[in-house]
Amino acid sequence: MTSVLFVCLGNICRSPSAEAVFRAKAEAVGLDAKIDSAGTGGWHIGKPPYGPMIVAGSRRGYDLAPLRARQFSPMDFDGFDLIVGMDAENLEDIEARRPKGSLTPVRLMTSFASGLPDVVPDPYYTRDFDGALDLIETASDGLIEAIRTGHL
Ligand code: 4NP
Repeated sequence: MTSVLFVCLGNICRSPSAEAVFRAKAEAVGLDAKIDSAGTGGWHIGKPPYGPMIVAGSRRGYDLAPLRARQFSPMDFDGFDLIVGMDAENLEDIEARRPKGSLTPVRLMTSFASGLPDVVPDPYYTRDFDGALDLIETASDGLIEAIRTGHL
C-alpha cells in the first residue's frame, strides 16, 4: 500500500483535484493507495472545493463535491509515504512544518512527468481550471507509473 498526500494553498482547487484525479487513475490500474489532500492555509477548512473547480472536474468524470478542505499539519509527515505540493511556495510551507528526524519525501506535482512547467498555476487566480486539470492528469499518470515501477 502506498499513501500520498496532495497539498496546495487553499485545498479548494488544485490539491482536491489531484486527490480525485489520482484516486480515479489508481483505481483504474488497481493500485491500492491511501490518498488525501490538504492546504497550507486554513481559510477554507471544512468547505467543499471551489464551485468552478467542481464543475471542471465533473466534466471529466471526477467527483470533487464530497471533498472537504483541511489544513496541512506536521502530523501528516507521519501519516503519508509521499507529500506532493503544487508550487515552490507549497514546498516551502510544507518543509517549514517538517518534524525533526522525519524523512518523508516532499515533491513537486509536475516533477512526475517530463516537459511540464515547474508549477501547477493556481486556477483560483488564473481561472484556467482546465489547464490545471491537464497538468494534474499528466503528472498523475507519471506518479502512478513511478509507484508501479518502484522509481519513486
Ligand atoms: P488552491 O487555490 O491553493 O489551488 O486551493 C486557492 C484557493 C483559494 C485561496 C488560495 C488558493 N484563497 O486564498 O482563498
